[in-house]
Amino acid sequence: MDFSLTEEQLMIKEAARDFANLELLPGVIERDEKQYFPPELRQKMAEMGFMGIMVDPKYGGSGMDTISYVNIMEELSKVEASAGVIVSVNNSLVTWGLEHYGTEEQKQKYLIPLATGKKLGAFALSEPEAGSDATHQRTTAKDMGDYYLLNGVKNWITNGGTADTYLVIAHTHPEKGHRGINAFIVEKGWEGFTVGPKENKMGIRASDTHSLIFQDVKVPKENRIGEDGFGFKFAMKTLSGGRIGIAAQALGIAQGAYERALQYSKEREAFGKPISYHQSIAFKLADMKTEIDAARHLIMKAAWDKDQGNSYDLSGAMAKYYAAEMAMRVTTEAVQIHGGYGYVKEYHVERMMRDAKITQIYEGTSEIQQIVISRAILKEKIR
Ligand code: CAA
Repeated sequence: MDFSLTEEQLMIKEAARDFANLELLPGVIERDEKQYFPPELRQKMAEMGFMGIMVDPKYGGSGMDTISYVNIMEELSKVEASAGVIVSVNNSLVTWGLEHYGTEEQKQKYLIPLATGKKLGAFALSEPEAGSDATHQRTTAKDMGDYYLLNGVKNWITNGGTADTYLVIAHTHPEKGHRGINAFIVEKGWEGFTVGPKENKMGIRASDTHSLIFQDVKVPKENRIGEDGFGFKFAMKTLSGGRIGIAAQALGIAQGAYERALQYSKEREAFGKPISYHQSIAFKLADMKTEIDAARHLIMKAAWDKDQGNSYDLSGAMAKYYAAEMAMRVTTEAVQIHGGYGYVKEYHVERMMRDAKITQIYEGTSEIQQIVISRAILKEKIR
């Protein structure tokens, strides 16, 4: 069993780390406060190839593997989790789905600008009354012959205000349950489509989150993704890969907080020696490091499964579940190690603790991952 990264994977990770330190670190506190991620900075991420990491170069992507994707996600999120989620949604939830299930026309028209970063994507599944219970979509897409008529409201949509292209999940045949759901490509600016106010969030504040309102929006037939009724499976398949990206985001947040806590504990003295020499702190650091490495192994396994063409529903859910819970514990301890300094913005760890919380909630709460994991293991045969 070989746990090492290839030379190419190492180079990509280094490049992402340098980019994060050089371009993201200055201004990260201000962006969190102002709840704003400048388009120019996003453009720089696009120039690095981060907006279409796994997309085939023939569609404008970087053609990298999932291992490289999680390494990039870790390095970006180590410095700025908001940058991580912008990248993750565009890659896992939008370009991946379009590349795997879109028609050639859809790829030419929508995938290429998204993968090159000329445009930004958003994934609209959640609704005011359909979060975890994703089959209960209230948004409807009525079949009108040449087009669908889209009506409804979506909630908590990452990149909701800044995106150009939206993948919207809606019910076409409510009587058929989840088999009557479809996914549609919707463009910003179409008549009847409005973006609600920006949410004032606890964490990942530089990324924008909005509700979306659809009132008699005409969606051309050719903008449906896949066969009629494929939408729920499309969403589930897309989210399975998305969970690996969010697990890597959680890993990056935790790694960033751990490194800051380790550094601080070596510099800060109390009772005549650096606090890292006190067992109460050293043992915390030992636990943090152990948990981070455990999460990294789960994430790498899930990414490897995906690259090998294995099923990754279970390994991705386990990675996301563990990494999110771990990130919350590690960032909380990082604040504790910093004492009063940890509670102020200049030391970064309070932001990381706030950012970690969302990883337990979006792309399926920790409890949803437990459902996915337990359903899978209950099917297992004990030998
Ligand atoms: N791949 C393919 N098909 C899948 C699947 C998968 N991973 N998971 C489920 N399905 C299929 C099932 O096979 C089933 O199809 P059939 O009936 O044809 O066999 C169908 O989908 C329904 O499956 P279930 O009966 O298991 O559905 P359920 O109602 O019990 O729900 C669930 C399953 C796992 C709880 C699902 O509802 C879920 O994942 N909920 C969480 C939703 C979520 O993650 N939301 C996040 C929003 S996006 C976001 O957060 C982005 C962001 O901000 C960054």
